[in-house]
Amino acid sequence: MRRNDPCWCGSGKKYKKCHEAYDERIAEMKFDVFRGQVRPPHKLINNEKDIAGIKEAAVINNGALDRVTELVEPGVTTAELDHAVYTYIVDHGGVPGDLNYEGFPASCCTSINDIVCHGIPSKKVHLKEGDIVNIDVTTILNGYYADASRMYIVGKAAPNAERLVRVTQECMNLGIEAAKPWHFVGDIGAACSKHAKENGYGVVTDLGGHGVGKGYHIEPFVSHDAEAGTGMLLVPGMTLTVEPMINEGTKEVYTDKSGDGWTVRTKDHKLSAQWEKTILITETGAEVLSS
Ligand code: MF3
Ligand code: CO
Ligand code: CO
Repeated sequence: MRRNDPCWCGSGKKYKKCHEAYDERIAEMKFDVFRGQVRPPHKLINNEKDIAGIKEAAVINNGALDRVTELVEPGVTTAELDHAVYTYIVDHGGVPGDLNYEGFPASCCTSINDIVCHGIPSKKVHLKEGDIVNIDVTTILNGYYADASRMYIVGKAAPNAERLVRVTQECMNLGIEAAKPWHFVGDIGAACSKHAKENGYGVVTDLGGHGVGKGYHIEPFVSHDAEAGTGMLLVPGMTLTVEPMINEGTKEVYTDKSGDGWTVRTKDHKLSAQWEKTILITETGAEVLSS
């Protein structure tokens, strides 16, 4: 690429005024293959237009989760929550990212108690006092994706359930704090898992976070139990999710293939919690886009 050519990121700026210094910095770096260190492909780096688009999707996604917050109470069905998510996203010009995704039949995931993730909303499932439930929503707007989930405690939960929900949120926040430019994706999982394990919890590794933005589940895979300094380099302009799934007991999970084919549960049927945000790697750290 010549210095006066338009930059590969699609910004429209000259390469020398855009990502030339970035490419030079990467060229000088040594990547340790034994630690799985790799440089991010250009397609994962969002330009300003992309970032603005992802942020707009995130605003709608946050609004859908705020709407759900008003509805969570004992007796509500998870289908009612799903309907509210669908209506909110569509009324704001977006498309629910989950709906028909690989055949998924709803606009969000509702994962109660021992369900780790991908619970399917249902007219038959009523939230009840003491449940803990994760509601996970993705919005597509103009081709850009934002993905987030929150935990809700229905009425009053047992102290062990409240502790799991709180510590899992802390794990996510520690993971986000560890997501820094010129550090590695493994730093995120190292921070999440340290806190989870100190609290005696299991960290799910069969599923994880992901790049998100110009697609739904894109590179890199974000493990929540990783070694610092391993995996893909994080650089400004990348967008990804941090979404630790933390179990009260064993980290082992299973998908009930004879059931709906989606629902993932803990093997020991103890509680599982999850929080998720979409973040943007900036020049100085990480900016939370969807909450
Ligand atoms: N939103 C989930 C995630 O955090 C994925 C849900 S996919 C679905 O990555 F098909 F189950 F909806
Ligand atoms: Co999600
Ligand atoms: Co996600």
